[in-house]
Amino acid sequence: MISPDIHSQIAVAVALLRTGGTVAFPTETVYGLGADVSNSSAVQRIFDIKKRPATHPLIVHFADPSQLNHWAQEIPKQAWQLAERFWPGPLTLILPRRHHIPKIVTGGQDTVGLRVPDHPIALALLNALGHERALAAPSANQFGHVSPTTAAHVHEELGDAVDMILDGGACRVGLESTIVGFNDQTAIVLRPGGIPLDALVEVLHGHVVFPDRKDHVGRVSGSLASHYAPATPLELCSTEALWRRALELEAKGLRVVIMERSTQNRDRPENKNIVRFFMPREPDVYGSLLYATLRRFDQERFDCLLIEEPPDEPAWMAIADRLQRASCVPGCEIQTDDYDTALAARE
Ligand code: TXA
Ligand code: MG
Repeated sequence: MISPDIHSQIAVAVALLRTGGTVAFPTETVYGLGADVSNSSAVQRIFDIKKRPATHPLIVHFADPSQLNHWAQEIPKQAWQLAERFWPGPLTLILPRRHHIPKIVTGGQDTVGLRVPDHPIALALLNALGHERALAAPSANQFGHVSPTTAAHVHEELGDAVDMILDGGACRVGLESTIVGFNDQTAIVLRPGGIPLDALVEVLHGHVVFPDRKDHVGRVSGSLASHYAPATPLELCSTEALWRRALELEAKGLRVVIMERSTQNRDRPENKNIVRFFMPREPDVYGSLLYATLRRFDQERFDCLLIEEPPDEPAWMAIADRLQRASCVPGCEIQTDDYDTALAARE
């Protein structure tokens, strides 16, 4: 899986990072676009490359969970419990920052997002970078787009704007980390992600809140109502409504792709304007393939994508969250009456 010359590539990456460069690297969730946390102008380049508003904070990635209090202070007991159980892993903790972290990293906030990724290349890179160093790294995509889960996706998103891309193949989890913040002693899930929610509840003995995401719009970029969006207009449909909707859109002359999960509609025939694609029925596998699948449909330039709603179950929460946001691009809702406007909006 990991190419033999990766160690020499990591040495080059470290040299670039130490001199203010940017390096995209694989994690178990999605690819990150990294810069040395302590170098404000390198961090600024990340915002420029991604066209990300300066108020949207970056996650700080480091290698050794026991270094948590080098980056954060006033750490509640629950945060240590989560770090111990889930790091390295797809968990980001939002905690009061230590003042040596430049404010540009945290979007001006006094809290910082912290994560120890579970990927051999990410960990090797962070270890080689050195003790008490870390990488500020958002997902390696243009702001608002679908996160990249392969090195080729990173190249599609960022081209030559990034100094180097480390290739670790496809990301295992394929969805971003679970983000947990704290209000006094209460843990709050700000973004569902790669950690199974029942495992979080177990570690915290049930003391965890899943707020309505509308309450958090603004501060967490991943909680903007529209985010994680492919270029193809996308609509979520119930299992029952899925094919009726496809036929309706086809009748308007549109080329439709349907992403199905259940087999309830399996006897319906495909035709040249209605293409079906079966997704895996296990949430973990579905999650690992979701972004690559959305990208593929963008390339095939369908007019619209209909996605069968995921089950309303905890294991599907992160997937449901991303699909809702992706289907929520203003002007891109598939409305048969003014479809031309919707198509124009995606250009
Ligand atoms: O899995 C992941 O989390 C990936 C990999 C690369 O680690 N990273 C990622 O980064 O998804 P990004 O920047 O695309 O999303 C991070 C989210 C953003 O929505 C950001 O606003 C939020 O974390 N965040 C970071 N620091 C925060 C803070 N201090 N307070 C609130 N939200 C914060
Ligand atoms: Mg992102």
